Amino acid sequence: MSTPPPRLAVLGSGKGSNFVALQEAILAGELNATIALVLSDLPDATILARAKAFGLPTATLPPSPFKTKLSPEGETALVDLLAASKIDWVVLAGYMRVVKDPLLNAYPNRIINIHPSLLPAFKGLRAWEQALAASAKETGCTVHFVNKDIDAGEIIAQQRVPVLPNDTPETLHARIQEAEHALFPAALAKILRPSDL
Ligand code: GRF
Repeated sequence: MSTPPPRLAVLGSGKGSNFVALQEAILAGELNATIALVLSDLPDATILARAKAFGLPTATLPPSPFKTKLSPEGETALVDLLAASKIDWVVLAGYMRVVKDPLLNAYPNRIINIHPSLLPAFKGLRAWEQALAASAKETGCTVHFVNKDIDAGEIIAQQRVPVLPNDTPETLHARIQEAEHALFPAALAKILRPSDL
């Protein structure tokens, strides 16, 4: 009997272009996984509309009194939703809240994020603007495990991206995102082997 593909939850707060890249890789047979749930902390996030367009289950997290994290109750509700959908791996794709203990403890070494820089350079928000401000000649993107320290978990894969002389924040971010859309499915394919389950 063949092992069923690992079940992923994708969490995002934004437009969901990385989610689309993952789902397209799955549909193309390049990534052996099922996106079993797409979650957002923002009810109007485009990622939810894009998930519905693929016919995938979606959920919105309860509102939080904090901007940068869920409340402990909210994070517990999130863990319950993941358990109810039998989620094996949690994939952060533009999720703008810091992941705290209830979720970290429920999915040790099973939470993966994509960050728009070559970590450990330019951690935190708007990393492409940080790269421009530092006059970096190159930047990139990183897929990494999530732990309690922000953008500091073990690195799984990276892709370099040049910074061009006339780059604006928008052109540089677009170039990084193009790299992300190839790197993320490839890095997940490397990690999500059936023997890991
Ligand atoms: C990506 O650039 C990712 O690196 C960062 O948030 C952005 C999400 O973009 N963590 P999208 O919602 O996948 O289009």
